[in-house]
Amino acid sequence: MSKIKTSFFCQNCGTSFSKWQGQCHACKEWNTIVEEVIQKEEKTAWKTASNSVVKAAKPLLIKEIDSSQEIRLNTTDSELNRVLGGGLVPGSLTLLGGEPGIGKSTLLLQISLKLPYKTLYVSGEESQKQIKMRAERIMPNSDNCYILTETKTQNIFKQIQEMQPEIVIIDSIQTLHTDYIESSAGSISQIRECTTELIKFAKETNVPVILIGHITKDGTIAGPKILEHMVDTVLQFEGDRNHVYRILRSLKNRFGSTAELGIYEMLGNGLREVDNPSEILISHKDEELSGTAIACTLEGMRPLMIEIQSLVSSAVYGTPQRSTTGYNAKRLNMILAVLEKRAGFRLGTKDVFLNVTGGISVEDTAIDLAVVAAILSSNEDIPIAEGFCFAGEVGLSGEIRPVNRIDQRIQEAEKLGFTTILVSRHNKLSLKNTKIKVVLVSKIEDVVSELF
Ligand code: TYD
Ligand code: MG
Repeated sequence: MSKIKTSFFCQNCGTSFSKWQGQCHACKEWNTIVEEVIQKEEKTAWKTASNSVVKAAKPLLIKEIDSSQEIRLNTTDSELNRVLGGGLVPGSLTLLGGEPGIGKSTLLLQISLKLPYKTLYVSGEESQKQIKMRAERIMPNSDNCYILTETKTQNIFKQIQEMQPEIVIIDSIQTLHTDYIESSAGSISQIRECTTELIKFAKETNVPVILIGHITKDGTIAGPKILEHMVDTVLQFEGDRNHVYRILRSLKNRFGSTAELGIYEMLGNGLREVDNPSEILISHKDEELSGTAIACTLEGMRPLMIEIQSLVSSAVYGTPQRSTTGYNAKRLNMILAVLEKRAGFRLGTKDVFLNVTGGISVEDTAIDLAVVAAILSSNEDIPIAEGFCFAGEVGLSGEIRPVNRIDQRIQEAEKLGFTTILVSRHNKLSLKNTKIKVVLVSKIEDVVSELF
């Protein structure tokens, strides 16, 4: 009997099948099912390397479980600490995903260089020289950071045993392979097996492991969805590659909130933590220009003041163009329809361009009101008075709808020196004695009369 066993895996969702078929019936994707060799042996790599006898777990009363030892390792990077919920948890597995070239390796190398713990940075993508060159740009000297270029998990564990690192970073999980499985690196069974070995290692030794994961074209972390289920924390590094700002988001966190957000600026010498994002997202100009409005949005739990720019001009071609960056194009069409039908602005024959500055993309609907203000300002060619900002959602009948956490938004606007904020009349305000003037509006008409 042959020892080789094969199975069919969907490359999109990781479901396994006993035979090939055209469509995966779990995720409904076509042509994603690939045959892979699985030749599993009983032992896994970490066990063979450590020869440790795993203690069998015993059930404990919940009140008897010691929770005091929930220590966090300070990563010395305030943005990363915030997103992780206070620091790295010992024995945890963190997955950092992001598009190629966005700066994942830079971020983790920079953190390894700064960490006050003995860190092993394993790279399967770049040579030690290349990493050294990159490190020289960021921070030339570190007494704690070790670099290993290796892709075989067995060899990695051997080195780990010798040097006993306190934190392990793997760049990237898709380049790892284990001897116990024959399929090529990056395939679903390899990713799953290598991650299992690393989880075992992390849980047994209490060493936190951070994995870098590539992202596919449609924005999901490449490899099986299972990978996201296996790890404790999933972070995503995103941003527009042509801009300098990068956002670190948490998609899953077993030890903290997923509403936190970290912001970095990519410089020639690495990533800089941005403590006050609002200041950089608003452009500083000498004269007042029409077509810009400031929105007060919330990204996760963090209030952010961002600038919305709009250009409205007569359409040159028959069909007017509508183009947006950082804002949902369908929502722009909806807002234009509302302005046309409910407020009588003839925008049907005009080109409308909309831009959220800084290259970040905003989902928060509270920026609608600023979008309306920017479009009207460009259309009328009248600048919006200095010190104005906006927070409100626009409904289909032209009403301004309330948004969540309005007090936090108003406080942020006040902190940054804005003098007037337009919000929905239906927002329940609990703030008293604010220096900033809060103008309540309920319809688009109110906004128009307030602004022009
Ligand atoms: P990298 O970390 O290699 O991306 P990833 O690992 O996510 O694929 O970073 C890629 C980009 O970052 C690269 O195009 C150059 C840029 N960069 C800087 O702008 N400044 C720097 O100090 C470094 C190290 C990189
Ligand atoms: Mg990289």
